[in-house]
Amino acid sequence: MDFQWYPGHMTKAKRMMQENMKLIDIMIELVDARIPLSSRNPDIDQLAANKSRLILLNKTDMADERVTAQWEEYFKEKGFYVARTNARSGKGVKGTQAIVMDACKEKLERDRKRGVKNRPIRAMIAGIPNVGKSTFINSLIGKACTKTGNKPGVTKGKQWIKLNKNIELLDTPGILWPKFEDQQVGLRLALIGSIRDEILNQDEMAIELIEYLKNHYQGILADRYQVDENEDKVKILEQIALNRNCKMKGNELDYEKASKIVLEEFRNGKLGKISLETPEEGTKEA
Ligand code: G4P
Repeated sequence: MDFQWYPGHMTKAKRMMQENMKLIDIMIELVDARIPLSSRNPDIDQLAANKSRLILLNKTDMADERVTAQWEEYFKEKGFYVARTNARSGKGVKGTQAIVMDACKEKLERDRKRGVKNRPIRAMIAGIPNVGKSTFINSLIGKACTKTGNKPGVTKGKQWIKLNKNIELLDTPGILWPKFEDQQVGLRLALIGSIRDEILNQDEMAIELIEYLKNHYQGILADRYQVDENEDKVKILEQIALNRNCKMKGNELDYEKASKIVLEEFRNGKLGKISLETPEEGTKEA
C-alpha cells in the first residue's frame, strides 16, 4: 500500500498500459465499490478507448448495497459491462468469465465471420493500488490454471494465464494512479485506508467522516457511540472522546485517539456497510 506516484512513474505506467492495450480485447477495471469514481484512474477511458470494457465493483462486502446498485446502473448507462465482486471471499469472481464472453461477443462474431476459430479472448486487469487486483486475480485463477507464453530462460514477451479455453489473462495487472489532485478524492481514498494515514490529519478525516455519516447514515453514530447527531461534527467527536474515555494526561480530551477509533471502526466494518459517494454526489464538480 506504500505507493508514491511521481510524474516519471505515471509516464512509465501509462506507456506500459498503452503497449498492453495493443494485446488485449477487453479491459477489466477494478474499482472500490465504496468510492467507485474516486478509485478510478483519470486516464483509463482514454487508454482503453475502443476496447470492450468491464467494471468490477469490488469490496461489495463493505459497501452499501443500495448505493452499489445505483453505481451499477450508472456505469451500465455509460456503456460499460458491470459486475459486483468480493475478491476476498470469491463471491462473484468466477461469474466474471461469462460476462467477459458477453462483453466480447461482437468481437467473437467478427472472428467467426472471418473464419478465425478458437482464438481466445485476451484480457487485462487494471486499477489504482489497493482496489484488490491481486486478490481478484488469485481468486479467479484458483489452482487449475496454467501459464502460457514464456518459456524458462526467455524473459521477453508477456505471460498469459489461461483461465479456460476461451479466455487468457495478462498475468500482471495494470497499476494506475488515482485522481489525487482532487481533494475530495484524496479524502475518500484516505478514509477507506488507501492512502497512508500520515498524509492527512486524523482529526480532520474523522470529522469529515462524522459529517458524512450524520448526513447520510442517520443513527449509526448515535447507536455506536451514544452521541447526539443533532450536534455539530466537532462536538460529536468530543462526545465520542468522552464516551470512549479518550483522555490525555491532565484529563484533557484526546481527540486524536477518538479520531483513530472512528476511522478504524469504519474501516473494519464495525459501523456497517457504508458507501462514501453516490453517483449524484460523486459526479458533482469538486
Ligand atoms: P491491489 O492488488 O489492487 O493493490 O490490492 P490487493 O489485492 O493487494 O488488496 C488490497 C487489500 O484489499 C487486501 O487487504 C485485500 O485482502 C483486500 N481486498 C481485496 N478485495 C477485497 C474485497 O472484495 N473485500 C474486502 N473486504 N477486502 C478485499 P489487506 O488487509 O491489505 O491484506 P490481507 O490482510 O487481506 O492480506
